[in-house]
Amino acid sequence: MPIGDYLRLLSDETRLRVLHLLAEEPLTVAELQDVLELGQSSISGHLAKLKQAGLTHDVPEGSARRYRLREDLDGVLKAAWIAVRALSENEPQFAADRKRLESLRERRGSSWVERVAGSLHREYAPGRTWESLCHGLVRLADFGRCVDVGAGDGAMAELIAPQSSKLICVDPSSAMLAAGRERVAALKLSGVEFVEGTGEKLPLDDRSADSVLFLQSLQYMTDPEQALAEATRVLAPNGRLLLVTLAKHDFAEADAFGHRHRGFSGDQLKRWTKPLGDHLLDQLPPEPRSPHFQTVILSARKRA
Ligand SMILES: C[S@@+](CC[C@H](N)C(=O)[O-])C[C@H]1O[C@@H](n2cnc3c(N)ncnc32)[C@H](O)[C@@H]1O
Repeated sequence: MPIGDYLRLLSDETRLRVLHLLAEEPLTVAELQDVLELGQSSISGHLAKLKQAGLTHDVPEGSARRYRLREDLDGVLKAAWIAVRALSENEPQFAADRKRLESLRERRGSSWVERVAGSLHREYAPGRTWESLCHGLVRLADFGRCVDVGAGDGAMAELIAPQSSKLICVDPSSAMLAAGRERVAALKLSGVEFVEGTGEKLPLDDRSADSVLFLQSLQYMTDPEQALAEATRVLAPNGRLLLVTLAKHDFAEADAFGHRHRGFSGDQLKRWTKPLGDHLLDQLPPEPRSPHFQTVILSARKRA
């Protein structure tokens, strides 16, 4: 959508009142009616426009729907909303709406915890981000001698290195390797080595790794089947493979990122890792942003 359309969307006072309220908490049409003292059809019309522009989405709740601001707004729309919000939030109209929302909360009586029971996985709660969860959960992991294949600039090394006895980051790109070495030095991470190489021909000894990771890198490899055979070769008995990659898709958008493969099916990944055992395969829900890529996660273990 051109920027002019976004600004027109955000210049309507009722829509802005709705957005300021949704920025406080997700609300139903009935609750918005109560706070805004406006008719249902007017509010529904504005909500439809906001949803169409990608600013809000809604989830069913009993016989109603609860509307919320999207957390994954795209660049221009996000910037436009942040700017308009900052410019308008102290206006008396929006302050008065917030007061009425406060009184609605008092009348409603239920706490946030009670309201979100059953939909907590979709709710924002301060600090409860995928990033914080990932940083926390990884503390319980033990990667041992770990090889990260297609490690890029080591963005994940900060998470993985403290949980590994040694971390070898393999990547064919000298730019990525240089950036990775710089990052690791700046973070003062020990036991991390950046090695030039490809997944198809890992510069590592047989049975030398306790874990081999492919974090959104398999789709870049010329011969992913060969890369997985290499991973199997370098894994020590009981060593674990973790593949996080894209599920099979048909989106040309991936080409711009340099992908050589449009994802993989679970069956394909299982076939290519057949010598391993204990396979666990999961496909995550589509990403909220277009074109809605899906990630597939496969873990497996080399037999003892
Ligand atoms: C999207 S990046 C992922 C980086 C990293 N795993 C992460 O999650 O931050 C994909 C990486 O795969 C690397 N790559 C491309 N071809 C490869 C190959 N044949 N073998 C190993 N890595 C490869 C690229 O250089 C790039 O750094």
